[in-house]
Amino acid sequence: MILSAITSRRAARALAPDPIPEEDIEEIVLAGTLAPSCYNNQPWRIIAVTEATMLENVREALAPGNAWAKKAPLILVLATRPCDDCRLDEGRDYAHFDLGLCAMNIMLQATHLGYVAHPIAGFTPKKVRQKLSIPLDYDIVTLIIIGKKGTPDNLEPWQQAAETAPRERKPISEVVFYNTWGKN
Ligand SMILES: Cc1cc2nc3c(=O)[nH]c(=O)nc-3n(C[C@H](O)[C@H](O)[C@H](O)COP(=O)(O)O)c2cc1C
Repeated sequence: MILSAITSRRAARALAPDPIPEEDIEEIVLAGTLAPSCYNNQPWRIIAVTEATMLENVREALAPGNAWAKKAPLILVLATRPCDDCRLDEGRDYAHFDLGLCAMNIMLQATHLGYVAHPIAGFTPKKVRQKLSIPLDYDIVTLIIIGKKGTPDNLEPWQQAAETAPRERKPISEVVFYNTWGKN
């Protein structure tokens, strides 16, 4: 059941501009805040961008290859600070990890409600920071682009093809081991 929900999530790019009801936005962000975190530190900060002028501001920060995201009626900006979460030995800083758990909850709940929820790293953090007044010590890690599925008209040819392409994953044997590193 859960695996079928996970399987149905795809990073699609063809979006419809229709606004998203407030109760759906609230459910989506609630799901994010229910993620686990080290010592329950909850290092995530989520800015839900819905107003036309603020959306326009964030759109200006998108990388050219992410022009498809300009149609989205909702952009979630996810930020965190390493000092707000566990910092353990051997480079185990958990703020970004915990923010990722939050992001996944967000994407699964959005998918469950019938939306596309596509995470992106292709944006200029400096511009987002300035336009949304995000303090300098927060890392702006990802934007989650959310909207109903739309028509692929304005997409690059490769992006159009990707809309219906099968999911690509490395073979399980390359990434999952049993009992010892490298052992399947
Ligand atoms: C951290 C991160 C950054 C990403 N950045 C972009 C991006 O800038 N533009 C884009 O179109 N997709 C972006 N993606 C989406 C991935 O390309 C996509 O998840 C991957 O190809 C697997 O496809 P699937 O999510 O449909 O399984 C990003 C995904 C993640 C997790």
